[in-house]
Amino acid sequence: MKHMFLKLTLGLLLITAPFACKQASSSKKAVTDTVEQRAERLLEQMTLKEKIGQMTQICFSEVTETRDKTLRLDEELFREVIAQYQVGSFLSGTGNAAEWKQFLEKVQKTAVEESRLGIPLLIAIDHVHGSNYIDEGTIFPHNILMSCSFDTSLMARAARVTARETAPLGLSWNFAPVMDLGKNPYWPRFYETFGEDPLVCGAMGAAFVRAYQAESKKFPSQSFACGKHFIGYSDPETGWDRTPADVSDQTMAEYFMPAFQQAIDAGLQTMMVNSGEVNGRPVHASKRLLDDLLRKRMNFEGVVVTDIKDIQKLVSMHGSAANLKEAVYHAVHAGIDMNMACSSFDFITHLNELVEEGRITEARIDRSVKRILALKIRLGLMEQATPDEAHASAIGAASHKTIAEQAAAESMVLLKNQDASLPLGGDVQKIGLAGFAAHSKRLLNGPWTYEWMGAKEERNPEDMPTIYTAMQEEFPKKEIRHLQVPDFTSSKEKAAFKQKAGACDALVITVGEELYSEFKGNIENLRIGEEHRKLVALAAETNTPVAVILIEGRPRVINDIHENANAILFAGYPGIRGGTAIAGLLSGRHMPSGKLSFSYPSSVGHFTNYYRKKSQTYDPLYAFGHGLSYTEFAYSNLQLSDTLIQDAETPVKARVTVTNTGDRDAKETVLWYIRDEVGQITRPMKMLKKFEKALIPAGESKTFTFEFIPGETLSYPDGTGEMLLEKGAFRLMVKGHEEKFYYR
Ligand code: GLC
Repeated sequence: MKHMFLKLTLGLLLITAPFACKQASSSKKAVTDTVEQRAERLLEQMTLKEKIGQMTQICFSEVTETRDKTLRLDEELFREVIAQYQVGSFLSGTGNAAEWKQFLEKVQKTAVEESRLGIPLLIAIDHVHGSNYIDEGTIFPHNILMSCSFDTSLMARAARVTARETAPLGLSWNFAPVMDLGKNPYWPRFYETFGEDPLVCGAMGAAFVRAYQAESKKFPSQSFACGKHFIGYSDPETGWDRTPADVSDQTMAEYFMPAFQQAIDAGLQTMMVNSGEVNGRPVHASKRLLDDLLRKRMNFEGVVVTDIKDIQKLVSMHGSAANLKEAVYHAVHAGIDMNMACSSFDFITHLNELVEEGRITEARIDRSVKRILALKIRLGLMEQATPDEAHASAIGAASHKTIAEQAAAESMVLLKNQDASLPLGGDVQKIGLAGFAAHSKRLLNGPWTYEWMGAKEERNPEDMPTIYTAMQEEFPKKEIRHLQVPDFTSSKEKAAFKQKAGACDALVITVGEELYSEFKGNIENLRIGEEHRKLVALAAETNTPVAVILIEGRPRVINDIHENANAILFAGYPGIRGGTAIAGLLSGRHMPSGKLSFSYPSSVGHFTNYYRKKSQTYDPLYAFGHGLSYTEFAYSNLQLSDTLIQDAETPVKARVTVTNTGDRDAKETVLWYIRDEVGQITRPMKMLKKFEKALIPAGESKTFTFEFIPGETLSYPDGTGEMLLEKGAFRLMVKGHEEKFYYR
């Protein structure tokens, strides 16, 4: 009898426990609980509907009063969405810090109080180049320019600033960094990448992940990075965004995977999926890529989120699923954890049906939901999900803007400097400044700033310098003349421009690309726009030296501009202090030290990466790694500890001496390459194995070293990821010097 009673009581306890727990906050942490145990405990209390709600991310623009990113909540609608769908995550908005604070306080409070288990929301934002959706935020150069710094410590400084301006507001999930390889200059997301080299992409991306996540730990609730877009997204056949790519397993293993692997090894907790298709399969429906490759081979254990509306797009864009329900089945079966559904709740309905029909098990749902709950727990959201008043004051701090200027100045690449026309010297008194970006803030900040494709001029900060105002500041004793771009159909206007330009001692002409994002930036011709070419040609008809500033997201073909200009500076989209950085480089206050992290094409129809094969030519206008300084560096005395390598484990040491032969202190980046002369899988003509940037005082020398383990550095993966190490001849190369060696 006694046992019976006990069993009954126990039974009752078990039945009522979940409901009894909900009063005692379900997410509060017991002292000894691990993250997994806390997530498990929460999961046990959840209904299927609540679980699927956690797998759904909706755009805030669906629940604001104006149905756009403006931060005014339609509270009644928001409450309905929470009550009816138990949505677990929301995405994106734009406004000032005070608006963000008020908005997120309301959102989190409502979500916690009006849901049965009070699980806080995961709030996502695309802070891809600083805190670019906050009016007061610090805007850094886009990644393509940051990568030209070849300085991971600088990337880390930018990442820490971004975390300090993102985490305190409760923006706990940052959809950055892009880990895609910028190997196709037509691709409109080229400027979001860290360039064409796998080592540079991985090093810069990993530096961002480590620094961003570490810095965010200083705040009550943290913010995590998100690697994107897994995988094989950036080299579509036509160069157009979200169009088919054919990527062999070997190319995937040798070129696309390493950067993502470095970010995973750096502690990446979330990954966003490539919207495109690879080898005929949409990645969102590819179990081979999302499970076999990402989870089993690359050991990723975090949350996998779709890109925007990409389950719906399996029907509408790819045609790989007949209807949304089938699309949901394929995507969940492939391994996604969260659907960035953005504007539709149908995912919830269909996934519920699929589970009830037994086509998807609840155990499969539990795997995703447990990852999502663990993420929220690790972020500290259960303890505090609302904005943290104390730290939000750092947003836009002057010290942050100083770092933004340093990042821009140390990344820009001096591509040409004929007759040392830069820096502009004392003999230059009248400077003519012209071109589309001469007096623009929005073109310096670039896309993904306040709005998806960049905001209108007046939305940019009042105190942000343009190139024009920055030059006035930089050259107080010189006259800066802002010359209007002429109407090229009017010979009168052209003559007037020439007359004004000819009256100047130097001309600074800005050319490049208007702002674009993703597929909006698809182009048919890589050549730079006609109006830019004409402007430089007209300026060159005067005898005034011309310095060209390239404000662009990708390397537009500029061969004639190259001929007509005395100096050329690649400035990408340089961010909130890009104008000051450019002015500082023109005056010599900053020393140019950037090098190209990509090959600059000399033709619209034929371009290869620097790691081209023996059967290819490499004829860029400017090569990967090219970048001039206002001083000269001499390389000498390249030495290798061993030229007959016997075993794969013994380290080999290389060293080279670099001398700053000029009269100004400057930074130099040393790029170490290795060439494998013969390979059963054809080998690149050279592959970057290490880069190191250091300051070398004027007239002094510095020895740079490169130590490598032959088994690691001389081997390469086949399609299965198996590393091949083949005996034979190799070359170590550094700035025109090389040493042959053999692996026996
Ligand atoms: C976009 C982009 C992705 C971004 C996401 C959310 O389509 O592909 O990079 O993070 O939507 O804004």
